Amino acid sequence: MNYSKWLSMKTLEYRDDVLYFAGKNTLDISKEYGTPIYVINENTIRERYKNLKILLNSEYENNRIHYAVKANSNLSILKILHSEGAFFDCTSMGEIYTCFKAGISPVKIIYTGNMFTDEDFTFAVENKVLINLDSVSQLNRLAKIHDGLGVEKSVISFRINPEFGAGHHAHTITAGRTIKFGILEEQAIEAFSKAKDIGFKKFGIHQHIGSGVLNAQDFKKPVEKYISIIKKIANSLEIKFEFIDFGGGLGIPYRPLEEPLDYNIYKDVVIKPFKNLINSEDIGEPIFKIEPGRYLTAESSILLTQINTIKNNGYKLFAGVDAGFNTLLRPTLYNSYHHIIACNKKGKEPTLTYDITGPICESGDILGKNRELNRLEEKEILAILDVGAYGFTMSSTYNSRPRSSEILINNGKTFKIREAESLDDLLKHQIIPDHLK
Ligand code: LLP
Repeated sequence: MNYSKWLSMKTLEYRDDVLYFAGKNTLDISKEYGTPIYVINENTIRERYKNLKILLNSEYENNRIHYAVKANSNLSILKILHSEGAFFDCTSMGEIYTCFKAGISPVKIIYTGNMFTDEDFTFAVENKVLINLDSVSQLNRLAKIHDGLGVEKSVISFRINPEFGAGHHAHTITAGRTIKFGILEEQAIEAFSKAKDIGFKKFGIHQHIGSGVLNAQDFKKPVEKYISIIKKIANSLEIKFEFIDFGGGLGIPYRPLEEPLDYNIYKDVVIKPFKNLINSEDIGEPIFKIEPGRYLTAESSILLTQINTIKNNGYKLFAGVDAGFNTLLRPTLYNSYHHIIACNKKGKEPTLTYDITGPICESGDILGKNRELNRLEEKEILAILDVGAYGFTMSSTYNSRPRSSEILINNGKTFKIREAESLDDLLKHQIIPDHLK
């Protein structure tokens, strides 16, 4: 894929050497709202959802897309996906609560926590949210909570660990024998049989192998293993499944010229084996579920940041910007690549090699290493691309820097969907004991 096509997939283009995003002038946005700022194109999220839905429908109509809320939990983002018909995958009480605040009904949510507490269970059971367990040991505790609250034990799901994982970084690979998630093959039958004995009536099953998988072939082995486990459970316990969930993980092309995930391969290695399974086994008419986070939101957003210092230490060039790993953690935490471009294109300037660094007091605060950019100047604005998933949600106030604001673009209009935090916000929850007053 050529560079301008790659940019246009993310609704970016240069007009008269100024970068436009979703049809809006990025320099105007940064002037109007300040920096650093997350800017989100609503239309990209809607398009990604629609395209994925069309793809699934073309293979198997009884499907659901559960958006992984952890990728981006802004209320407006949830409302956009809700209006498209999405379901939701939550990993905490906080995410479920946020969904409720966005007007999402509990029946649209699957709660895939891990290391669940009794408080988590009580919240989910009271609110009638479907729970996806990831340890056999949790079953008795959950049953007690159902009994205590007098709530019927209806559907239960277990997360299977199919041992083969994949992902863009070791931290995001979520299957394997030494990985904390899910239930291994050896305990899978025990889990469902215990659930049946305890009184659960309906069953779902789940796997999520990891995050940021750009080579669709990486799904092949885990899916094969997952399906063989499902067959074993179904045959030995005569269980019918309400749904079979294949998790998220669909990667996006962060690097220029990188091709998107090959959806034909994804169909072949995920959807077709699922269809073969339900055609060959007597396991009911399960809903086919997936849980993408990154695929739906990553490419919808850019982070605009201003250069405050150009530093040449005689050995290396640094462009110091006002966003740091407090604003966008992925480059520091995973060594992730986010493409960085100037909002003012200056084709005639010489190309120089910069480290784009934030203001955090750690030398790991680098948003882009050894980037070739036309000569940069202080006060200029840069755009960091593909930050719509795990961007804002992983930001922090480290070094006592308030979190930035978020802007949504819809039909050529901009809407502030999050206020930047103030210095007072940083101190809001602190309490000074009397002896220090
Ligand atoms: N389902 C479950 C159970 C998950 O744990 C996750 C992600 C997803 C779905 C969505 O995965 P996605 O489609 O977005 O790849 N902070 C990391 C990603 C961690 C993902 C954790 N779980 C990053 O910035 O790359």
